[in-house]
Amino acid sequence: MINFWSYKSEYKRLNKKFLKSIDISLKRGNVFFGEELKKFEKNFLKKNRTKYGVAVGSGTEALIIALKSLNIGYGDEVITVSNTAIPTVSAIVNVGAIPRFVDTGQDYLMDYNKIQKLINSKTKAIIPVHLYGQSCNMDRINQIAKKNNLKVIEDCAQAQGAKFKNNFVGNFGDLGCFSFYPTKILGAYGDGGFITTKNVKLLQRIKRLRFYGIETTNSKSKYFNDYYAQENGINSRLDEIQSSILNVKLKYVDQNIIKRRKIAKYYLNQLKQTSLILPNENSQCRHVYHLFTAYHPKGSYIISQLNKKKIQCRKIYPHLIHKMNGYRFMTKRDHKNLQNTEKLNKGIFCLPLYPDLKIKDIKRIIFNLKKILSN
Ligand SMILES: Cc1ncc(COP(=O)(O)O)c(C=O)c1O
Repeated sequence: MINFWSYKSEYKRLNKKFLKSIDISLKRGNVFFGEELKKFEKNFLKKNRTKYGVAVGSGTEALIIALKSLNIGYGDEVITVSNTAIPTVSAIVNVGAIPRFVDTGQDYLMDYNKIQKLINSKTKAIIPVHLYGQSCNMDRINQIAKKNNLKVIEDCAQAQGAKFKNNFVGNFGDLGCFSFYPTKILGAYGDGGFITTKNVKLLQRIKRLRFYGIETTNSKSKYFNDYYAQENGINSRLDEIQSSILNVKLKYVDQNIIKRRKIAKYYLNQLKQTSLILPNENSQCRHVYHLFTAYHPKGSYIISQLNKKKIQCRKIYPHLIHKMNGYRFMTKRDHKNLQNTEKLNKGIFCLPLYPDLKIKDIKRIIFNLKKILSN
């Protein structure tokens, strides 16, 4: 069986380092907010060339905290896409706001030409999703946001290390939200997330919001380190065990992205003569290939045939969010405008791609895929 994703070979390679790092951290006696978290936050920000930020409990919580920190709540509208992961949208709904869906382009990313039409007096923010590992055009999105006085929260969950115009994602909007879900570019062995910002006031707010609303940054405050909520917050912590693992993995993330790009290049070369529509790296973008997507009108058939050959192949999001019962009714206004999103979703599928995928397995995937396409 060729797995769609697996951490087993990575764990075999790195387990001594993980266990040593966890052991050192647990012996220090801190479960939360200890040395490992401090080190991870510092090094993650350095790697991403971002000024400020904090780690949180998950990518979903990163989005919820980001929205709350911008005072987005009841009745506000937030523009995003329908072909994303559920949490992009559930975060909006969980703060009491209403998701508005803009259509996507051929690159599966938010079509910035269609954003303006959705903006009204209730619109407060845009959440561009750097889906599958490629950055949205942040120049265009920021222009629209500026013109209409909107906030921008980048959903970077799938795109850590991706670049737009030589700058890492998470540095373009008011806030950037990352996920360390295990399959992600930088994955923990559990849940985790991160919020980045250039704004020190927002930094203070997100720090409070992740810790029940308790002030932890201003040492002059009389409430410093006191169990006193300055405002209503939540609990969203990255623990020392996950931080220890991420501190080890952060050292390998650049080389893992190089490996991902190499595998993607190989797929692209080997499959370019087929009838598949392959992913494009947009100009001025550096794609990190969290997922390798292909499109074919017979996408579902191809998935089932590959699975029969013991090759796990998936449609990552089989249902668009605006078609799901949880969100269908509140987004009705936008349904008729999502034609490209719907068309692409019918034939999209993803091939296995992760840094430890072996070349012999990649060759087997390509061989079988070509055979299916030629029948
Ligand atoms: C685009 C996107 N946004 C948000 C999230 C939420 O991240 P998490 O699973 O860490 O809560 C994910 C991950 O599933 C994602 O892919």
